[in-house]
Amino acid sequence: MNYRHAFHAGNFADLVKHGTLTLLLDALTADPAPLAVVDTHAGAGGYDLDGELARRTGEAAQGIFRLMAADDAPAVFDGLKAAVRRGNPGGGVRFYPGSPSLIGAALRRTDRYIACELRDDDVALLGETLAPFPGAKAVQTDGFAMAGHEAGKGGRMLVLIDPPFERGDDYARIAETMASVLRLAPSACVAVWLPLKDLETFDAFLRSVEPIGAALLVAEARLKPLTDPMKMNGCAMIIANAPAGLDGSLLAVCRWVAQRLGEPGGKAEVWRTGA
Ligand SMILES: C[S@@+](CC[C@H](N)C(=O)[O-])C[C@H]1O[C@@H](n2cnc3c(N)ncnc32)[C@H](O)[C@@H]1O
Repeated sequence: MNYRHAFHAGNFADLVKHGTLTLLLDALTADPAPLAVVDTHAGAGGYDLDGELARRTGEAAQGIFRLMAADDAPAVFDGLKAAVRRGNPGGGVRFYPGSPSLIGAALRRTDRYIACELRDDDVALLGETLAPFPGAKAVQTDGFAMAGHEAGKGGRMLVLIDPPFERGDDYARIAETMASVLRLAPSACVAVWLPLKDLETFDAFLRSVEPIGAALLVAEARLKPLTDPMKMNGCAMIIANAPAGLDGSLLAVCRWVAQRLGEPGGKAEVWRTGA
């Protein structure tokens, strides 16, 4: 496992993923019933953008730094921006919240959160990040298996699936995990982040999850036309059991990212597949 999210924290793809995540958390915690959240690939929890790893790539310069400085960012980013401000009480944008920080902060007393991470170094950081949140637990385990296990317990559930895509079987394991979670917990909200490199891979993934029979909300932010399959040309969120009314908000997220951070030929699209 070579991937470390610290190299990529706060980049355009994080804006799509974390903008979506804050909207999902807002919608799901509007219902008073307890919520269980499983983050299958949690990473370190939060990131120092002044740290060596983040500075080596400088990806945040075309992501969160642009968003925080923008005067035209739509209100759908307010949750993410507020989380960044909370993490930087002295001002500036040095610390960036990963999915665990965002989820931890949204938990109510009755909710619980299992954050899965395999790497020794990142799981140690994850434990520190989650220490202030009583309902949250960092676990060094395979997140795909944990999601299926937790789905068997019943109750309302959000699963975030955000693998590094450095293994050939990541797409197949996402599809298997979606299938097993939705079989055990048919109303679970399952949100998957995907890179957009070429259309064939993306379409093949969508075809692979068709037999599950779930209605999906698909939100795409393409920074440029998908002509070079060796590059991450954009990213997408695929959501099963998406809360009603999320479509327009996700379009606003993807549109701002594609228009402000992309190149000519970039575009944003949000659509639903039938059940
Ligand atoms: C893209 S990063 C996660 C970023 C995080 N979700 C966020 O938004 O802040 C993917 C992480 O998954 C971890 N990982 C890889 N395979 C895993 C697995 N099977 N189970 C749990 N974690 C895994 C990697 O070590 C890496 O830290």
